[in-house]
Amino acid sequence: MTKQVILTGIRANNDLHIGNYFGAMLPIIDMAKTRSDEFDINLFIPDLHSFTTPIDHSTLNESIMNNARVFVAAGLPLDNDAIHLYRQSYVPAHSELTWIADCFTGMGEMGRMIQYKEKSYKSGEDQVSVGLFNYPVLMACDILLYNAAYVPVGDDQTQHLEFTRDIAERMNNRFGEVFTVPEPVVRQHAFFGKDQGLRIKDLLDPSKKMSKSDETGKGVIFLSDDPEVARKKIMGATTDDKANIQYDKVNQPGIANLIDILALLRNTSPLEVEAEFKGSQRYGDFKQVVADEMAEFLRSFQERLQSVDDQLILHKLETSEAAMNDVANSTLLRVQRAIGLRA
Ligand code: TYM
Repeated sequence: MTKQVILTGIRANNDLHIGNYFGAMLPIIDMAKTRSDEFDINLFIPDLHSFTTPIDHSTLNESIMNNARVFVAAGLPLDNDAIHLYRQSYVPAHSELTWIADCFTGMGEMGRMIQYKEKSYKSGEDQVSVGLFNYPVLMACDILLYNAAYVPVGDDQTQHLEFTRDIAERMNNRFGEVFTVPEPVVRQHAFFGKDQGLRIKDLLDPSKKMSKSDETGKGVIFLSDDPEVARKKIMGATTDDKANIQYDKVNQPGIANLIDILALLRNTSPLEVEAEFKGSQRYGDFKQVVADEMAEFLRSFQERLQSVDDQLILHKLETSEAAMNDVANSTLLRVQRAIGLRA
């Protein structure tokens, strides 16, 4: 029997932040470390997704390599044939399948995607690219090409995951079983031991998610942040005037966010962290604990990043890309046959 596939992609623009790390990277790396005998693990760099919004192209190649280094520093084992690390654009089937899937996707359905709505609302429709408009189709193909069942992503990608299931079911209904439909979102959460998707909030404005595209970077903790700078960002996090530590995402989103962050750093649950600090009025003391543990996390992560071996990474990329072209091409051929492009 073929193994089920766990797959995720993390874009290479700007620096990665703790939302990317805890939302997607750590869950798949944990699986890679503990369950690669039961599952194939695909961690890829969606480089074609990097310029759906404008970027500095002169640094793209280095950012792609840096992403791979970050995955290794975060613990991704390279010496395991069940674990695949690859760059999307090195597997041309992603683009080919996307064109096909585009033709079975409605304009209205893409127009309803929250990320597109938000960005096009901010800048005006003429200022956003067609690539931004249909990138959920590319994302769906990233998943469907490899028959993935489980896709660890942060909460902001849930709608895209649902679309992936929709397009797979739509094409299966019309053409027979061409795609493996990924597991429904609730089962995904259960599989990764969560009750909902993760959304780390901006430290200064906890009503919005921590995001790479934040211009100031003041509310974002990047994996490359100097530990002392990160410490200051935590100490300056927006909280509230209730003087009462409790895990209440609605009324105390700033404190709840810090509780989430500390729970992730300690690999425990928010409720356990809440129990330790509950009722305390001293936000400063609590922030100090979070700041210390964050600084220590960054220090040890950055030390590991210094010692990763680029040659090993390049070798892994090339080996995985060869293997992934085989898998992706076989899915593409199945689809080409089903829709009448091949005999
Ligand atoms: P990207 O590169 O923007 O983000 C990578 C992952 O980080 C998660 N994330 C967060 N999680 C928790 N809190 C946050 N504040 C936070 N910010 C980001 C994202 O949810 C994501 O899981 N389209 C995807 C990349 C992609 C992909 C795929 C993912 C392309 N193809 C196929 C899975 C499968 C994206 O833009 O993620």
